[in-house]
Amino acid sequence: MLPEILKSELVKNSSVIKKNTPAIFFSKNQLVYNYIYFKEALNFKDEDIFYSTKTNYESSVIEVLNDLNSNFEIASLGELQIMQKHGIASKRILFSNPVKIPSHINCAYKYGIKTFAFDTKSELEKIQIYAPNSKVFLRLAIQNDGAEWKLEHKFGANKAEAVDLLALAKQYNLTPCGISVHLGWNNHKVGNWSSALKKMEDILKKLAENGISLEFINIGGGFPAHNINQYKVLTEIAKAINPIFKRIKEKYALRIIAEPGSFMVANTAILATEIYDIIQRNSKQWIFANTGIMQGFAWILNNLKYNILHSSDLEKDTKEISNFVLTGPTLDSHDVFSNSVSLPKTTQIGDILYVFPAGAYINSSKEYNKFPFPELKII
Ligand SMILES: Cc1ncc(COP(=O)(O)O)c(C=O)c1O
Repeated sequence: MLPEILKSELVKNSSVIKKNTPAIFFSKNQLVYNYIYFKEALNFKDEDIFYSTKTNYESSVIEVLNDLNSNFEIASLGELQIMQKHGIASKRILFSNPVKIPSHINCAYKYGIKTFAFDTKSELEKIQIYAPNSKVFLRLAIQNDGAEWKLEHKFGANKAEAVDLLALAKQYNLTPCGISVHLGWNNHKVGNWSSALKKMEDILKKLAENGISLEFINIGGGFPAHNINQYKVLTEIAKAINPIFKRIKEKYALRIIAEPGSFMVANTAILATEIYDIIQRNSKQWIFANTGIMQGFAWILNNLKYNILHSSDLEKDTKEISNFVLTGPTLDSHDVFSNSVSLPKTTQIGDILYVFPAGAYINSSKEYNKFPFPELKII
């Protein structure tokens, strides 16, 4: 399950890891590999890839992607500030949040960003005021069937209103430039990718009949990366959608772009945590580790599953295993990575456990989408 590059770097650095827990260990080389794999599988150019900043905005991640010439997708002022900090030019950034805080639109506009998502008339009104004469792309509602985490209700215009909304943009002196979708997080149902594109193709046809041509269609994120062989599944998806990409590009003379997040970073990092106690309770063996699920892994409360490995598993097959509950150090009894994890029978205090994958939505969950926690004000 661990990708080869990350795995070999973990083995090489085992003594550093042992001395520095809890920590998330990130492999730059794995990220470079993922970026190139993604680009080649979908026949993309660098300018077609808009990495989804929210997925992991640690400086080392943004630096690698910046050096690779990736573009970026942002959703907030906080994410804009990350772009500014790294000197990423405004023309390489899309503002993909369809319902934005007005002041955030204005800051992005002042930085030079000219391309904004929308899915309602009221968003067009805001963009006209805070980012006049910009380009706008319509986020379409799409079924997230097959996704492990659905993103289908909060955003997206219906197919029936798409043409009218894009036409309406012109009345606000905005230029309709694209349509976008998000198939939901970790969508490995290959057929969904083709049907999303076919739906977009129907809209392109209607737009052409109404004299509207677009610059791009944006297939979003959602490329699977969690608990699967992401390279194999992406290859299958690419086989299904590349011919549709080709047909659309030829017919409508536009670009296809994407906003991958998890595919790029999920498997580039792993959590290392040290066991500081093992106790017998209610006929189970409880391992207490020096970090818990509230420290980035609260997604587990929504039934997401992560792999748990003993560090010795990287180098040898363990014959004798035993079942454990893996819990963190907090006083919350929901702080449980897994109620049933198989580890070597010999597992003891001081051993290192790995939780994988830890590259997507873990560090960035501290301040999701870089919206800060509300401050405490004394009254
Ligand atoms: C607009 C948008 N684009 C891209 C992504 C990245 O998605 P993923 O991590 O599934 O690739 C997200 C994630 O929520 C998103 O909201």
